[in-house]
Amino acid sequence: MSDDGDAALMEASLMAVADAGIDIRHLLFERFLAAYPERRPAFLNLDAASRRMTDETLQILFGLAAGEGWVWPLVAELVVTHRNYGALPADEYDAFVDLTIDELGRAAGTAWTVAHAAAWRRQGEALKAMIRRALAEWRSAMPGGAAAAPA
Ligand code: HEM
Repeated sequence: MSDDGDAALMEASLMAVADAGIDIRHLLFERFLAAYPERRPAFLNLDAASRRMTDETLQILFGLAAGEGWVWPLVAELVVTHRNYGALPADEYDAFVDLTIDELGRAAGTAWTVAHAAAWRRQGEALKAMIRRALAEWRSAMPGGAAAAPA
């Protein structure tokens, strides 16, 4: 379901961060990898992955607010391709989503009001719930991480 109010607030935050010229991925990945240092070796190309993970997370959050139909298939695919990087529990995805919003808020500066924060956090909760659903659906479709044998 789209939320035009959230989408407008979120767009304003993205514009504020773009105007400030701040690339949030640096502090975001510094904090994420400080929290999960054992994941560091999975990033073969941290520069490329940090750009893509940050951009994609922001796009998905904005897409959720805008009620975009591509969000669910993208999240479902993302969760299954990420199995290549290890067994990632939902809590780690939660942390990445929360840290992305934290760093966006920090970069937005005075443009980050209570209303802007609430819009991002609301869509963040929706994304975390969607990731949990995708993890559960893949677990039941592919127990043990492998494709089910044909009947
Ligand atoms: C909202 C959550 C996330 C999004 C949208 C996201 C998105 C992406 C994207 C677009 C890529 C580029 C390649 C690909 O499509 O596989 C990627 C790579 C990667 N992601 Fe994520 N990701 C998320 C969460 C996580 C989490 C929680 C981890 C935990 C460690 C993680 C680990 C990785 C790794 C290891 C790579 C490959 C890096 C490399 O080859 O250098 N991602 N991610």
